[in-house]
Amino acid sequence: MKDLFEKIKENRGPIGMHAKESHGYFTFPKLEGDVAPRMGFRGKQRLNWSLNNYLGLANHPEVRKTDAEAAAAYGFALPMGARMMSGNSNFHEQLESELSDFVKKEDTILCNFGYQAMVSAIDCLVDRHDVIVYDAEAHACILDGVRLHMGKRYVYKHNDVEDCEKQLIRATKLAEAQNGSILVITEGVFGMSGRQGRLKEIVELKKKYKFRLFVDDAHGIGTMGATGGGTGQEQGCQDGIDIYFATFAKSFALIGGFISSEEHIVEYLRYNMRSQIFAKALPIALVIGALKRLELMRKHPEYRDQLWVITHALQDGLRKAGFEIGKTNSPVTPVFMNGSIPEATNLILDLRENFNIFCSMVVYPVVPKGIIILRIIPTAVHTMEDVNYTIDAFSKIVGKLKSGQYMSEKIAAF
Ligand SMILES: Cc1ncc(COP(=O)(O)O)c(C=O)c1O
Repeated sequence: MKDLFEKIKENRGPIGMHAKESHGYFTFPKLEGDVAPRMGFRGKQRLNWSLNNYLGLANHPEVRKTDAEAAAAYGFALPMGARMMSGNSNFHEQLESELSDFVKKEDTILCNFGYQAMVSAIDCLVDRHDVIVYDAEAHACILDGVRLHMGKRYVYKHNDVEDCEKQLIRATKLAEAQNGSILVITEGVFGMSGRQGRLKEIVELKKKYKFRLFVDDAHGIGTMGATGGGTGQEQGCQDGIDIYFATFAKSFALIGGFISSEEHIVEYLRYNMRSQIFAKALPIALVIGALKRLELMRKHPEYRDQLWVITHALQDGLRKAGFEIGKTNSPVTPVFMNGSIPEATNLILDLRENFNIFCSMVVYPVVPKGIIILRIIPTAVHTMEDVNYTIDAFSKIVGKLKSGQYMSEKIAAF
């Protein structure tokens, strides 16, 4: 038998095993200053493409003012306690009602963390007789929710509607045999590839199979659809999404999230979702901040338009310059390259130190060995100069990558 701490000492986990060499630079970097396209990193201003501040609201003067005034007026303690016991307020209810209106659903429940909301909602909605059908590349919070499920689950190949149907056939047989129900879970926009979930086609499957659809639209809220109402709105199938989730962590540039659905489903969640019943409510100051962000999203469609101007310029420019950016049809822009992990780290170091560009890198084990993804998140506050400078810099670093200049087993010191 092993001592638990000894075991952990030996096995640091797939990312943690690199902690010693990467901490503070490749992992846990400290970005300083206001959230903006240019932020401080290790004493120098860098062009930043790694934050989901899609609409540029994080540092919007009205947002900053409202946040500061709300914090001064209410502090961060209020309300004390969970919503159900002692933590409800008119502000919470107003935000729920405005969000319902924004995403065109009957009712909404606010959640104190997006991740926990997804885990806990899945746990709360299904029992052991029910069957979950979900996308193979679903976000970790969906996978964790599915892990809590006591019944059967079937996974379908990423964004593959034919395979989704195959799994629905299996799920239907099982659900019928045990008098259960089926919940299909997928995402509006997949955060790594930038591909929209094929929601409209999944909704079409409802004509043949009996199931309810739960969509995590973390990246879609505020960015997709004519009024920013999300990926369901974009694809004209919002009505077919039975349960709609979004986080405040991205377009809203805040913390928390919400789930919208039919009134009786939201009431059920309010009274049964363990992560909300047994946890402190969102502070009023944050709720007021969210109300302001929602108001700006509605009043200023030009922020979303500008996000898309920058997104198209970036994606078209990268494609024209010969880069492989996959099948993204959202602002999330992955740039695929081939190389080893040491090459990836040397490349990122060059990009940060010599070109002053900060973006996220994705390597094995998140993607297969030999693939490097540089993930670029455009925002409404980036400029065309930022786009052109970045494409030019990327052309230079990919030239170096191809000619083997980053090929050193030793990761360059930082
Ligand atoms: C698809 C998706 N779902 C859920 C979450 C979790 O949301 P939060 O950061 O609000 O906990 C994230 C990350 O923010 C995400 O990208």
